[in-house]
Amino acid sequence: MVSEEWRLSQFWYSVETAKTVAKEVLKLCNGSVISPVACIACPTLYAYLKNMDPNAPAQLFEYDKRFEQYGCDYTFYDYNHPEELPLELKHSFKIVVADPPYLVRVKLIAEILFAEK
Ligand SMILES: C[S@@+](CC[C@H](N)C(=O)[O-])C[C@H]1O[C@@H](n2cnc3c(N)ncnc32)[C@H](O)[C@@H]1O
Repeated sequence: MVSEEWRLSQFWYSVETAKTVAKEVLKLCNGSVISPVACIACPTLYAYLKNMDPNAPAQLFEYDKRFEQYGCDYTFYDYNHPEELPLELKHSFKIVVADPPYLVRVKLIAEILFAEK
């Protein structure tokens, strides 16, 4: 992981927390839900998901461009402009995990990303 940048409210999960959340998410993926996982502002979760299962379909939505290292799995996301996302990613996720600073606009971004029933 890259170093924490406090200016961006970056506080990475402990190893134990990251593994626990990643295991729970992978359980959901291995069930009946075949869908990519949207990791909003939680790069540690993305990294652990990929570490535990390199085939896990996951997309990281993050403001910090250091995570462009994840290639097409990275999408720039600014919670001040939650609607500004590629059209093809809207309504295409059944699992959305979000941990933005101060938990801002979680509901709105989740609504934009969740797959419609
Ligand atoms: C509280 S941390 C959550 C990180 C999580 N605990 C982890 O370990 O992956 C907040 C996250 O929001 C991101 N962030 C900061 N400013 C943002 C913005 N304007 N829009 C979206 N995300 C932002 C930070 O880069 C950081 O990854």
